Amino acid sequence: MPLSPRSLRAFRRNLLAWFRANRREHPWRRDRDHYRVWLAEVMLQQTRIAAVIPYYEKFLARFPDVQTLADAAEHDVLRLWAGLGYYSRARNLQRAAREMVKRHGGKFPSDFDAALALPGIGRYTAAAVLSIAFDAPHAVLDGNVARVLARLDAVRGDLRAPQRWKKLEATAQALLAREAPGDWNQALMELGETICTPKSPRCGECPVSRWCEARKRGLVDSIPAPRKKPAGVKQRIAAAVLLDPRGRTLLVRDPGSHDGVLFSRMWQFPAVEFAKNPAAALADHLRGELRFDPPPLVELPHAKHGVTFRNITLVPFCGRVAALPVRPRSRRLPLAEIAGAAVSSATKKIARAALHHAK
Ligand code: ADE
Repeated sequence: MPLSPRSLRAFRRNLLAWFRANRREHPWRRDRDHYRVWLAEVMLQQTRIAAVIPYYEKFLARFPDVQTLADAAEHDVLRLWAGLGYYSRARNLQRAAREMVKRHGGKFPSDFDAALALPGIGRYTAAAVLSIAFDAPHAVLDGNVARVLARLDAVRGDLRAPQRWKKLEATAQALLAREAPGDWNQALMELGETICTPKSPRCGECPVSRWCEARKRGLVDSIPAPRKKPAGVKQRIAAAVLLDPRGRTLLVRDPGSHDGVLFSRMWQFPAVEFAKNPAAALADHLRGELRFDPPPLVELPHAKHGVTFRNITLVPFCGRVAALPVRPRSRRLPLAEIAGAAVSSATKKIARAALHHAK
């Protein structure tokens, strides 16, 4: 969008004025404290605003600052995260807090590269915190902002393709209103969340629609292009077969909107997608989603499972418990009956491995 300097000024003025008049009063907008801003940005990754708010308030009440978080026991931190999903976020949050205490005087570092070096902090989080808390001139690019920018410039194709994403980052940086980077970034995010939505955007209410190429060319509904399904994404999933003394096991349905759901509507073993340490990820998941302290878990032989576009490695674990937890959307079933139950073939593979082990 090569705008004349005058046009660029008007564009920025309109968007900032719109944001300042319409901004929603979220709890993390009460001040610009670096710790509160950081915590919000981490919780908001992959999680809806409405789901985040109660967790945010509880977490802040218990861990009001970096030092308190750094000093806490890890299981206390995870307990307050329980139910929010993606538990490595909580673990990294605390590891980063400890680094901040050790190396940065208990503060979120104001240098972009120093921030990037902390656990769990990528380009988006570093730019968001530095701009919102310190008004440092770093533009954010997340899915919402990318959609807004792509429509403004009528960018076709998959926005997440690396070259295209790089160009969008450059566009975001060029547009950034230097006099108010924090408000500017939040304005773009908010525009994407409330007006320039994926479906049925409300162009009539958009403060910058007169600069929008997609609108001019009638392309609003086809930008962004649907994401290409990456062929054969590799996924690694750890699953827990808990066994009570009567040979019964626990199945769950709808394990949450996150964390490597295997087969969304079917009964399945509690399971979680993991990157590195399957046993730790699974234990966190059981604590977080089922509020259940896991027994010692034995790792069983892995199984392969291929479904369209997904190439799954299943890592089953078995653990004996005195009693299975009783939870909503869960049922107990003899392990031996799973082979004949209406469950996915992945679940049957896991059950077979566990039966073999339990014999
Ligand atoms: N989504 C994530 N972070 C946000 C922020 N700071 N403002 C608005 N929406 C957001």
